[in-house]
Amino acid sequence: MKRQGLSDPRDIEAAGPGAPPRHENPARTPEHPPGLYGRRKGKKLRERQAELLRTALPGATFDASRPILDAAALFPERPASLWLEIGFGSGEHLATEASRHPDFGYIGCEAFLNGVAKALTLIDESQLRNVRLYQGTPAP
Ligand SMILES: C[S@@+](CC[C@H](N)C(=O)[O-])C[C@H]1O[C@@H](n2cnc3c(N)ncnc32)[C@H](O)[C@@H]1O
Repeated sequence: MKRQGLSDPRDIEAAGPGAPPRHENPARTPEHPPGLYGRRKGKKLRERQAELLRTALPGATFDASRPILDAAALFPERPASLWLEIGFGSGEHLATEASRHPDFGYIGCEAFLNGVAKALTLIDESQLRNVRLYQGTPAP
């Protein structure tokens, strides 16, 4: 059986105590901060996706550089309940839930730009008003 992570004593020996698990990127550059499991960019965006990033993302995102004291105020109508999905991939789950529950507010966070572009397409197609997106990682 293949063992992974810091539960494997061989990792602790090789990397030293406190070292990140093998599956984490040890470089910790701005492109790959700790806690990011995946890529930031993939293949070239389609024209429509690039356009949505330019035109729709600014209205669908929010300023995450400061604490958000009232997350419900991010939405045009105050949601009955707030949901957060960290790492929404291409947004299929996020958009499906948001269409099922238009009175709930959904905040999605995704580091992969192509995933954000796909989610914007779904949001645009279904004209969802109850989704806010953040492109990036939630941890510093
Ligand atoms: C398994 S996939 C998405 C699954 C999606 N939640 C679903 O249910 O369909 C995991 C996603 O998490 C994203 N991810 C990984 N680490 C992240 C981080 N620190 N911040 C934001 N997104 C992250 C990856 O880019 C990837 O798209």
